[in-house]
Amino acid sequence: MTLQAAQKSPADSSKALYGGKGTRRITVHDIAAAKTRGEKWPMLTAYDAMTASVFDEAGIPVILVGDSMGNCHLGYETTVPVTMDEMTFLSAAVVRGTKRALVVGDLPFGSYQEGPVQALRNATRLIKDAGVQAVKLEGGERSLAQTELLVQAGIPVMSHLGLTPQSVNTMGYRVQGRSDEAAHRLLSDAKAAQDAGAFAIVLELVPAELAAEVTRSLHIPTIGIGAGAGTDAQVLVWTDMAGLTGGKVPRFTKQYANLRETLGDAARAFAEDVSGGAFPAEEHTFH
Ligand code: KIV
Repeated sequence: MTLQAAQKSPADSSKALYGGKGTRRITVHDIAAAKTRGEKWPMLTAYDAMTASVFDEAGIPVILVGDSMGNCHLGYETTVPVTMDEMTFLSAAVVRGTKRALVVGDLPFGSYQEGPVQALRNATRLIKDAGVQAVKLEGGERSLAQTELLVQAGIPVMSHLGLTPQSVNTMGYRVQGRSDEAAHRLLSDAKAAQDAGAFAIVLELVPAELAAEVTRSLHIPTIGIGAGAGTDAQVLVWTDMAGLTGGKVPRFTKQYANLRETLGDAARAFAEDVSGGAFPAEEHTFH
């Protein structure tokens, strides 16, 4: 087969991150290979073993134990209060619930901003105590020294640029990179993160054209959330994706189920059975 023919032939689908035949745990090398193949892949968050096992069985190749656990799981208003204890405890549960997915643990606010040594101490805790295979931290230039030290220590790092929710108190929740200067900064942050050794970059709330330009200019994959269709991968917060989140969800989210309604209906049906004496019935009873 000529090189040209090989380049045109369909990618080896047995190696695909999603829908592939592999059963061993996905590694950062598999993620890199997917970019070379031009494969688009999905990432979801999870915060407990049972949900993570459902996503793992569904073939989701990368699961993020996001600090979105703050608002989506722990009842905080933002991600800011999430602690290392909470992150370690819930990341360990997600790892226990998965066999194939690469599990990424988020470094919460205050766990790496002091500097590289603090970042290494906390990332090491996530790797050793929780068993995650990679960590995520927010910021490009501002987190470069942290990224470099973690990568040197053998810890894969996912960067997070654009809207960085840990900076909500200074940034708010707004689309980032709209001005020429902000777009230029985002592009140079992304290149700096790549040069520091990051294996992937989350782009959150970024104009689609800019996210596509960043994606084209990097050899590592970009993972978009509210960043259009031009990124290599897409991530959603699972409670938004499955319709469990109450109230208003962001416009960039697509809801694939209505778990809030389904769970509420199940709880009401149970309550009515109990109050009406229909549960437990004979088949649920021991004699
Ligand atoms: O914490 C999180 O869930 C995230 C995703 C939105 C990328 O950072």
